[in-house]
This record gives sequence, C-alpha cells and structure tokens, in this order.
Amino acid sequence: MTALQQAPRIPATLIPGDGIGPEITDAVVGILDAAGAPFDWDVQQGGLPAIKEHGDPLPQPLLASIRRTRLALKGPLTTPVGGGFRSVNVRLREEFELYANVRPGRTLLAGGRYEDIDVVLIRENLEGLYVAFEHYVAIGDDPHAVALGSGINTRAGCRRIAKYAFEYALRNGRKKVTIVHKANVMKILTGLFLETAREVAKEYEGRVEVNDRIVDACAMQLVLNPWQFDVIVATNLFGDILSDEIAGLVGGLGMAPGANIGVDTAIFEAVHGSAPDIAGKGIANPTALLLAACMMLDHVERRETAARIRGAIDLTLRVDHIRTGDLGGKATTREYAAAVARNLAA
Ligand code: NAI
Ligand code: MG
Repeated sequence: MTALQQAPRIPATLIPGDGIGPEITDAVVGILDAAGAPFDWDVQQGGLPAIKEHGDPLPQPLLASIRRTRLALKGPLTTPVGGGFRSVNVRLREEFELYANVRPGRTLLAGGRYEDIDVVLIRENLEGLYVAFEHYVAIGDDPHAVALGSGINTRAGCRRIAKYAFEYALRNGRKKVTIVHKANVMKILTGLFLETAREVAKEYEGRVEVNDRIVDACAMQLVLNPWQFDVIVATNLFGDILSDEIAGLVGGLGMAPGANIGVDTAIFEAVHGSAPDIAGKGIANPTALLLAACMMLDHVERRETAARIRGAIDLTLRVDHIRTGDLGGKATTREYAAAVARNLAA
C-alpha cells in the first residue's frame, strides 16, 4: 500500500450545482481522484435541479450533509435577477456563518495584460448591503415607485473579518493589508468598518503594514498599478465587485477560486457563476473550481497534493499550451482536464 492509500479519508459534500457546474465538477473530481485526494464525496443536488426534485434550491438533504461533513466543494448555483428566490449562495453563507470569503488572484498565464499579479481579497461575507433588507414603497398605482434598502455592519462582524485578514497575512507571509471602504459617503455603514479595521491593525503594528483606500480609487488603482496591493479587506458588496475585477487581472473568471470560511465549516467554490451562455457545451474552463479544490486541500493540510495539482495546471497551460476557449485555446473541458491529470505524473 502506498502512503496515499493509507492516509485517512475525509468526508466532504460535493454540490455539482447547475449551468456549467456539473461539467466542471466532473472534470475537477476526475483530477482530484487522479491526484489521490482524500475526499469521500457525498454528492448533493442544489440550485435548479434541486428545485425540480425538492421544491427548494437549498434542500434539507444538502444542508444536513454539510452539517455532518463541515466541508464542501460547490459548483455555481443560478439565482434569478430581480424577483424570484433569494440567492442560494447567500443563504448557504448565512446558514453556516461563513463570514470570510477568501479570493486569491494570482497570475498563472504569462502573456496576459498583466504579469505577476498576486493579490488576495478578503471579503466580509455576511453583513453590509447583502442582508437584503430592502423593499418597495407604492405611490398611487405604481407598486415600485420607491425602492429602499439598508445595510448592516456590526462592530463584532467588522472586527472578525479584519482579524481574519491580518491573521491571514501573518500566516501566509504577507506584508500589507489594505482596508477598502466608502467612508466619505457611507460615513456610518462603512465608517464603522474602517474604524474597526484600523483598531485591529494596531494589534499588528510592526508585523503587518496597513493602509486604506476608498473603493472607487481602489478600483482604478487595481488597473493602473495592481502590484501595490497585497491583501485587501473589504465589505461584502465592494469585495464582490473588486474580486471580479481582480479575476480580470489574472485571465478572467475561469481562473479565480474562492473559499467561504466559518468557525467550523468551509465551502470552496469558483468566483464565477453558472455561465448559462456556455452551459452544456463542454467548453467551460474548470480551472477556477480546480484551484478552489486546491484551497480545500490546503485547508485540510494536504498541501503536497494541492501543490502537485497547481504544478500540473501550470504545465498544461504554459508548456503544453492546452487551454479552454476563454483563454484563447481550443480545448474542451474534458481535453483540458485529461491533460492536467496526465501532467500530475510529470
Ligand atoms: P457568470 O460568472 O456565470 O458568467 C460571466 C461570464 O463569464 C459569462 O460570459 C460566462 O460564460 C463566463 N464564464 C464564467 N465562468 C466561466 C468558466 N469557468 N469558463 C469559461 N467562461 C466562464 O456570471 P453571470 O452570467 O452574471 O451569472 C450567471 C448566474 O450565476 C446567475 O444566476 C448568478 O446569480 C449566478 N452566480 C452564482 C455564483 C455562485 O454560485 N457562487 C457566483 C456568481 C453568479
Ligand atoms: Mg460575484
């Protein structure tokens, strides 16, 4: 028996999701198996297929599975824009109190618009404008005459995410944390975030540098000079927007992984959504979800397996030049995944 076979298995929930979810999940699980990853998957339906089967995009069996495993790899789940049900992703984060969303943006492919990008965005995942405390006010015969929305930030929540960001910086040998806010306009909502994060920063004086940026200026600076950033900590909505921008710096959404971290539960996923425009065509890039799986391996201290998979991705993209369409290549999801699996042995 090899050391890999003897290593203990780790129960984990697998949610293929909808749209391109099942295609990229299939590709990723194949590569994980080839790499000898330790996960024993409990496959659970969520999103559109779960509505058909259970009448809920986030059905009880899925929740029960995560309650048991405390660990999940998740494909994208479609949320209707405007009306319809509440975002399944937001409900999952709330259900398991996944307060930190960690989104690393790292250049894997040379020759893009930017070289050597290495920024980690840490997004507050439960508060801010995502609490969906919003409603319409009717005037006369217009039921949607006025739209009202409020955000909620708590000192405890701000403190928790700021601490997470500074601890992350220390643990990962990072030098600087940039606090992103809009405290010049939303003086209270994001003012509390800035005030609290600055207080937390004092506890790390001499160990981690700190600065802060107003979100719009930060968005511009990310385009002009992204190398000035190291770790960014942001409120929920700003973090959502900036993490897609950072994904754009490193080759697009097909390359950007994310982790939703709570006290005792973690769910790993790609930053991108269900990509309905290319779903079912077998051409989606599975790298983002695969990199999320690598973060999951790091999380369970299987760093060596994660490093081997990252190395195989690197070889496939840079040396073999096998790439999916979003990266200008011609490979299908399956062809790309097969190449990565082959390169595990290289
Ligand atoms: P999206 O991320 O699904 O797609 C945006 C664009 O990027 C599309 O042109 C798509 O084809 C492309 N793209 C995304 N992932 C790709 C991949 N792996 N390979 C190649 N191309 C890729 O964003 P969109 O269209 O705004 O949202 C679609 C649905 O996904 C919505 O219902 C949204 O609510 C949901 N969504 C779910 C998320 C999650 O499950 N965590 C996150 C973001 C959106
Ligand atoms: Mg987003």
